[in-house]
Amino acid sequence: MDNDPSSPTSEFNLSLEQFHEIAQVVERMTGINLPDRKHALVYSRLARRVRALGMKSFADYTAFVKGTDGTEELFKMAEALTTNVTKFFREDHHFEHFKTQLLPRLISSARSGGRVRIRSAGCSSGQEPYSIALCILAALPDARSYDIKILATDINTQVLATGRRGVYSVEDLQFHSRQPAQFLD
Ligand SMILES: C[S@@+](CC[C@H](N)C(=O)[O-])C[C@H]1O[C@@H](n2cnc3c(N)ncnc32)[C@H](O)[C@@H]1O
Repeated sequence: MDNDPSSPTSEFNLSLEQFHEIAQVVERMTGINLPDRKHALVYSRLARRVRALGMKSFADYTAFVKGTDGTEELFKMAEALTTNVTKFFREDHHFEHFKTQLLPRLISSARSGGRVRIRSAGCSSGQEPYSIALCILAALPDARSYDIKILATDINTQVLATGRRGVYSVEDLQFHSRQPAQFLD
């Protein structure tokens, strides 16, 4: 099979024009930007969807997702195009900032009866919101007694289900050169 998605010899042809149509729909729906260099990636992620639906071409697929019956597929398309890389305490400088610059104020607000609301907007499989929770619990072990909530959301329902389950392997907790405990000092 040819690796060039625009080539007539690849399984399905994805012309640049169709790619732009898809990119536009995805950006409108998710905010995810798909520049031309993502052409091959979009091809490989969506060819699976074209195949699963028993369609013959990307032209059929694009018309389907843009049509009135395509709403469910639109979400599947967005899911197929998300990149869900995550880790506990990923990008540790964010957590350092959170712990030193934000958390002390949030804790003091919670202790005086305030509402604390934190959002992990693209939470993937949950490691980010649980890392936030770990930081809070380390600084405020009785956090449960206060009005503190973390809202974790993601457009990809599959990774969200993993986050909701909240079960991780030992390897997941050993991803980093520094162990989570060191973030909790
Ligand atoms: C690279 S992951 C990052 C996960 C986590 N925030 C972290 O830093 O470890 C980005 C996540 O954002 C999600 N995402 C992308 N666009 C989204 C949107 N419009 N609404 C909700 N989630 C979105 C993706 O599904 C993906 O799981």
